[in-house]
Amino acid sequence: MINEKVDLAAVKQRQQQVWSDGDFAMIGGSLAIVGENLAETVNVVPGERVLDVACGSGTATIPAARRLAEAVGVDFVPALLERGRERAAAERLEIEFIEGDAEQLPFEDESFDLVLSEFGAMFAPDHQRTADELLRVCRPGGRIGMANWTPTGLTGQTFMTVASRMPPPPGVMPPPLWGTEDHLRTLFGDRVSELDAETRQFRFRHFSPESWFDFFRRYFGPIKAAMDNLPPEEGEALKADLIELMRSNNVAGDRAMMVDSDYLEVVAVKAG
Ligand SMILES: C[S@@+](CC[C@H](N)C(=O)[O-])C[C@H]1O[C@@H](n2cnc3c(N)ncnc32)[C@H](O)[C@@H]1O
Repeated sequence: MINEKVDLAAVKQRQQQVWSDGDFAMIGGSLAIVGENLAETVNVVPGERVLDVACGSGTATIPAARRLAEAVGVDFVPALLERGRERAAAERLEIEFIEGDAEQLPFEDESFDLVLSEFGAMFAPDHQRTADELLRVCRPGGRIGMANWTPTGLTGQTFMTVASRMPPPPGVMPPPLWGTEDHLRTLFGDRVSELDAETRQFRFRHFSPESWFDFFRRYFGPIKAAMDNLPPEEGEALKADLIELMRSNNVAGDRAMMVDSDYLEVVAVKAG
């Protein structure tokens, strides 16, 4: 499925830099409802051991802890984990935030009842290895709950727009493939006994498409990296494309920017 010649370790090292250079905690707070909805859909049970993979500042970890789970978040950007600790401390929630790679989770086999990932594991370059890790750390009969941007939704289109100006290394699979049921069924295969997926929408809000761009250019690693590294003319063209994408999907008219973005909410049960 993957081009063997791609140096996935180098791709991942670069991605770690990209996510570190931005500050996704500035965006994660606005996505809180996605984590809350996911926690309800997977029906977090008090006392369960829950892992949030590629947790950032804990947007899905915190809703699990609020439901009295023993919650652990793992991410490969230490600064985001620190922001997660601050958020947890503000609510007096006991959450363990641990540095680690989604493709090589620092946990024993079958050590969690529930494994979550909100717009996180989908970004690790080796999709199969990541899916194998989510399954490995989940106990038989346990659940995997994910929120993944779809390829055709607005965020999927945003990634395609960035990739059209700054293509990823050949052979690296696009993250929004995780937002399709077919891809999930291929990755998890018969190691899951159930897989339910529902398309939901998240509404991005900002003052205007331009202010959205300025905010994301500053804090969202993938857009920041593209803008920092493209030649100035290409960067201006990307900026214009992204602002136009938001403008053409804006449902708030002249008052503000409100755009709806599809994501796939997934619950899979590990075969027992
Ligand atoms: C879009 S952010 C989502 C963060 C968080 N789940 C949220 O919803 O706020 C993507 C996150 O994935 C993390 N990430 C990407 N690839 C990773 C990997 N291979 N291992 C661990 N974390 C990874 C990034 O550091 C970043 O925090």
